[in-house]
Amino acid sequence: MTICYNLADFKQALSLIPNSYKIGFVPTMGALHHGHISLAKRAKDSCNIVIVSIFVNPTQFNNPADLARYPRTLEDDCKKLEEAGVALLFVPGVKDIYPQSDNRIFDLGGLDSTGEGPRRPGHFNGVAQVVTRLFDIVKPNYAFFGEKDFQQLSIIKHFTKEMQYPVEIIACPTIRESDGLAMSSRNTLLTKEQREAAPEIYRALVKAREVASAQILSDNGNSLGITPAMLSAMVADEINSNPLLETEYAEIVNSLTLQIVTDWADAEELQLCVAVNASPVRLIDNIKLK
Ligand code: PAF
Repeated sequence: MTICYNLADFKQALSLIPNSYKIGFVPTMGALHHGHISLAKRAKDSCNIVIVSIFVNPTQFNNPADLARYPRTLEDDCKKLEEAGVALLFVPGVKDIYPQSDNRIFDLGGLDSTGEGPRRPGHFNGVAQVVTRLFDIVKPNYAFFGEKDFQQLSIIKHFTKEMQYPVEIIACPTIRESDGLAMSSRNTLLTKEQREAAPEIYRALVKAREVASAQILSDNGNSLGITPAMLSAMVADEINSNPLLETEYAEIVNSLTLQIVTDWADAEELQLCVAVNASPVRLIDNIKLK
């Protein structure tokens, strides 16, 4: 695996890739886990060459403490990527990505008006800044993102299409620990007690999916009388029943527009999205309800 620590070296390495090659790209912030590796493997299955980037993007952190504590494990990451068959790793510095400060404001089509959007002001604009900059540099044919960050994935699909990037966005399933906890770089920051509590999040999501399908089916006949708002509140209560977890939001949204629904029939596809504080760590997860 070739590792480039600056833009000039990376451009040189890129110039050696044959034009006919399909480039698969996996942008990351490092602290890699099986979820990231599954993206790299998926890329390897469908592309001639896989490029991974590791860059902890300062513009997407609205909380400086979160940026400071973000785990950094470069040596270990390199080993994992090498094993996964990644050919080229780009580890740029801040000046490579932002030679000047990036003042671009993106139209995110209202997809940032729920969930993480209002709770992390500027976060998705920062994601758009770094992802477009990386697409401009790497010029991939395919880019791979995990469904764990459901809202991020929707927003990336949106601006890629709006800005007519010739990049196909490939959504990859959330990878979970054996107890159901969605893999995340932030999981390593949990205390032992918080880590034991955290699978409650996914348990609550699965339970909600069961209630939602019973409710949606029953709407054809005898309604159970549970609205999306009631189910969201039930999920929050369920998670909060563990004293180490505090739900920041539980929202049932239209999977395409990410707008909160008030009725089960409001959208063809529905997603339940949650953010939970296991302080100071913030965990997010989601599940498809229909
Ligand atoms: O999902 C992430 O790790 C980041 O938000 C991304 C897409 C690499 C942009 O910094």
